[in-house]
Amino acid sequence: MGEERWAEVDRYLTDLLLPDDPVLDSTLRASEAAHLPAIQVSPPQGKLLELLARIRGTRRILEIGTLGGYSTIWLARSLPPGGHMVTLELDPKHAQVARANLERAGLDEVVELREGPATRSLADLAREGVDPFDLIFIDADKAGYPEYLAWALRLSRSGSVIVADNVVRNGAVADASSRDESVRGVRRFHEMLAGEPRVSATAIQTVGAKGYDGFALAFVTRDP
Ligand code: SAH
Ligand code: DHB
Ligand code: MG
Repeated sequence: MGEERWAEVDRYLTDLLLPDDPVLDSTLRASEAAHLPAIQVSPPQGKLLELLARIRGTRRILEIGTLGGYSTIWLARSLPPGGHMVTLELDPKHAQVARANLERAGLDEVVELREGPATRSLADLAREGVDPFDLIFIDADKAGYPEYLAWALRLSRSGSVIVADNVVRNGAVADASSRDESVRGVRRFHEMLAGEPRVSATAIQTVGAKGYDGFALAFVTRDP
């Protein structure tokens, strides 16, 4: 039992639980045609993000790491009228593909895409004094996760939810001697969650179409 079975089960669950979705399909097709890496969340993970946002009654979402906008679309669809989402992307080509995908999804009025290094955009948001976000999804470069968590905490309030993708890295996260910058970033991220009095957090290992990885979930229990 390995990767092939995990992918098969993901297909089974997707076919059964997730209705056909022409908008998401065309988003993936456009991303593939533009040669973006196929590293977006899986369909069941995308729906998990949407459901978490809906359960939370989320009105304001921040995403760090847009790629072609696949997870962006899942999340933005959870928003009620008047809701708002900001998504941050470094790569101009990824941003261009995402903008087209968001427009096709009819979400270009709801989602604001900020291009550039996430740390710069996050500092801008803080400087602008934007309202706190109800849900923050961290999914950009893994070495940056500690810094993104620090900003996420600044931009959140009591009741906010922070979700992070790729926090297990094929199991490498348990290797304290790893020299891999991604692994070190994710380990530091978990340590920060452990030591942060403002959050209650957990992490879950996952297998599926994207291999062996994991999601972290943190609930913010106090204002900054
Ligand atoms: N959330 C997407 C996948 C994101 S992949 C989805 O599930 O559909 C990670 C993205 O983070 C890539 O597009 C990459 O270009 C972007 N990225 C990498 N480093 C970044 C940085 N420093 N600032 C902003 N985005 C960054
Ligand atoms: C990779 C996977 C991701 O989900 C991501 O956000 C970034 C990178 C990867 O497999 O390299
Ligand atoms: Mg990811």
